[in-house]
Amino acid sequence: KQIVVSGIRSTGYLHLGNYFGAMRNYVKMQDDYNCFFFVADYHSLTTHPDPKDLKANVFRVVAENIAGGLDPEKVALYAQSDIPEIPELYLLLNMLAYKGELEKVPTFKDKVRLNPDNVNAGLLTYPVLMTADILIHKALLVPVGKDQEQHVEMARNFAQRFNHRYGELFPEPHPFNFGDNLIKVPSLDGNGKMSKSENLNATIFLSDDDDTIRKKIMKAKTDSGPTEANSEMPEYIQNVFLLLKLVSSTETVAAFTDAYNGCTIRYGDMKKQLAEDMIRFIAPIREKALGLQQDEAAIRKILKEGAEKARESASRTISEARKAIGINYY
Ligand code: TYM
Repeated sequence: KQIVVSGIRSTGYLHLGNYFGAMRNYVKMQDDYNCFFFVADYHSLTTHPDPKDLKANVFRVVAENIAGGLDPEKVALYAQSDIPEIPELYLLLNMLAYKGELEKVPTFKDKVRLNPDNVNAGLLTYPVLMTADILIHKALLVPVGKDQEQHVEMARNFAQRFNHRYGELFPEPHPFNFGDNLIKVPSLDGNGKMSKSENLNATIFLSDDDDTIRKKIMKAKTDSGPTEANSEMPEYIQNVFLLLKLVSSTETVAAFTDAYNGCTIRYGDMKKQLAEDMIRFIAPIREKALGLQQDEAAIRKILKEGAEKARESASRTISEARKAIGINYY
């Protein structure tokens, strides 16, 4: 079985982007691949969250993933901070990562621009920690959304660099999505992607109640409709169609596409339909996640068992990495 690794930061409620970019693929891969999925709680520390919130944040990501269909019996589901081999590999890899290349990473530059007072070393070396997450299990495939593509590319570079210097140890990991192209779930305001931290009113969370979903979707950016048959869709209209494709039936999508091309489309109707289909999709996940979160003991058990599975593989890799570097003295 091919080895798969992916993680989700525990920085807030999960949203549709997390679901369609990552979680859906986790569920589809769990039977046929050797999967390691984790909560990236170390990665969440770059913004110094309140210590009181950490546990609930981590447990919620676990509950939401299981509610979305992940089966902890089939995969290793664990917290990053339970695997000490990850920060050890991160330290070793940091010696091969150069300041210049890390400073050029677009996500780093964005963070510097948005938050110039908190440009910490953890932020700079974020892609190196991600690389350690991936290489610690010698993963080949990394199911992620489009926004993480470049990070996985860096992981591939670091793997090559390690192999080149110390001998072949790591396979080269690749970003993965069923159906080729990596996904970017757009924000409802027509600006960029859905995100846990920016413009929360334009992001649909898996925890949103029915009314909130309706309100957010009805406010999605549209216009007064096309005036010429078969005209090109503006990006914000394409976005609404993209969401429709994710949760509505093919008949519904075809009907609104025809209406668009024939200039008879009423965006109000389309958004109403989208809202109802979205609710049908999200409500069961939301309810199940709420239930699971009540059972803290069950989540603790899942994380402990997941960490055991993950450490077995991680400890093997770290011994090999230490040996390759020459750290084997006795
Ligand atoms: P994070 O927590 O921001 O997001 C988790 C997953 O959700 C995907 N995603 C999206 N996909 C499509 N459209 C969107 N709008 C959208 N928003 C988020 C992300 O691509 C990701 O797959 N650095 C990572 C966590 C991480 C990781 C790793 C991932 C740490 N180590 C190792 C893979 C392998 C992150 O911050 O994801």
